[in-house]
Amino acid sequence: MPDLLRKGRLRSVRGDVVKFTSSIESDERLLKHVVDINKAHIVMLIEQGIIDPAAGTQIFDVLKDLDGRLTLKPSHEDVHMAVEEEVIKATGPEVGGNLHIAKSRNDQVSTAIRIALREELIQLMKLTVDLHSTILSSSKEHTETLIPGYTHLQPAQPITFAHYLISFYDALSRDLDRVLEAYGRVDQCPMGAGALATTSFPINRERVAELLGFGSVLENSLDAVASRDFILETLASLSIMAVNVSRFVEDLTIWCTSEFRLIELPDEFSSTSSIMPQKKNPEVLEVIRARMGCIIGDLISSLTMMKGLPSSYNLDLQEVTPKLWDALEVMEGSLKMLSKLIPSLDVKGNVFTRRDLTFTTSTELANMLVRKYQIPFRTAHNIVGAVIKILIENNQRLLDTTPEMLQEAAKILGLTLRVDMEDIRSAVDPANFVESHSARGGPSIKEVSRMIDARETTSSRLQSQISEKQNRLLDANRKLGQIIGSYLESEKSP
Ligand code: ARG
Repeated sequence: MPDLLRKGRLRSVRGDVVKFTSSIESDERLLKHVVDINKAHIVMLIEQGIIDPAAGTQIFDVLKDLDGRLTLKPSHEDVHMAVEEEVIKATGPEVGGNLHIAKSRNDQVSTAIRIALREELIQLMKLTVDLHSTILSSSKEHTETLIPGYTHLQPAQPITFAHYLISFYDALSRDLDRVLEAYGRVDQCPMGAGALATTSFPINRERVAELLGFGSVLENSLDAVASRDFILETLASLSIMAVNVSRFVEDLTIWCTSEFRLIELPDEFSSTSSIMPQKKNPEVLEVIRARMGCIIGDLISSLTMMKGLPSSYNLDLQEVTPKLWDALEVMEGSLKMLSKLIPSLDVKGNVFTRRDLTFTTSTELANMLVRKYQIPFRTAHNIVGAVIKILIENNQRLLDTTPEMLQEAAKILGLTLRVDMEDIRSAVDPANFVESHSARGGPSIKEVSRMIDARETTSSRLQSQISEKQNRLLDANRKLGQIIGSYLESEKSP
């Protein structure tokens, strides 16, 4: 069939121009949704008396399994024209020629992206919840696995691997909240906005929104076709999530170096060098780290494309959509990979036997002087600091601190200090350090276990919230299928 749009105002078009401006490559994922939108639109047109039920039913007969049959070709401008062309081909211009009454590709494309995005966001949220439960299971195994925490990338204070994992859980949890929030704004239906000014036909926008399972109608028709802030918002949430994920994989990348030696990646997640036989490279982590950058790039590209666009529909918007799919695909792939990787991490025990790491309990040595020997904290900090300077010069550990060394350092500050050796031993022990840090949110076993329990409850609540959203969509789709089915049935019966 010759191009539907080339029989009026314009005639010929160059094949290479259509190909150049076509969105068909990224439209494949919208096909099913565009077909559903057409179904819902025709149901509404029939109910409103705008088209005849018999004509509508002929259209349903073509639409009912169209997404399985229709092959999108590069010669199509886009999926919207491909569907209309197919309907007209099958039903003739008298019937199919009315498919596009009271709608435009402008409201249709925004609606289709929103439908596809709702499903993607549900999938993304599910994958985040899966990763969450992986993190919680691993945390349970590591409530006593001591690791050094770092500030400025310098060994700082002992924590546990579980405490660390929960910090990632919590960051992801806020990411999930942002996605959930964004979902509400994606779940608004632009259909009926037409090209930009609605239509003079007596349509029912609420009915189309309902048939497509939307929470509400996106009201102002100009806004409905022009706005892609729902894409920007999703990309922004994904970008923040990408920053969190990349920080996590960066930690793991550093920690599996021979300099840090805190964790070991399993062989099946590592690769080696083609020339250096000793190498064990954390390439999965590196790829995730790089791809998180692509997500931020997708946000920046989209913001830049949209900034300064005149209101209403411009074909620039078509170029934004693939950035959204790219970002989602990258994030979903990376979350899946992390869910597999985290349980197989080999976290090294006994790292605190390493001389340099013994100093991570120094704060507690100072705290002990405050508590048991009534030294003001700043003074205690200075005394312990002076002792550490000597220990490092002599290649010793914090455990080699003696009461005499403390006394010597105190004397310089004009103080007398006689510390019991047992107090020193107990203060510098990393397990004691962690145990005593039991303030809310701290690394003690008890506090971390409480945090794990609380998060398990939140996770299952979130899981049911996500399922509810999914069921709502499935329900609406089932109902739409039933309505189309009954039109087709009634046409068959004499
Ligand atoms: N292919 C377009 C897109 O993806 C659909 C809308 C085109 N509208 C238009 N007036 N050319 O955004």
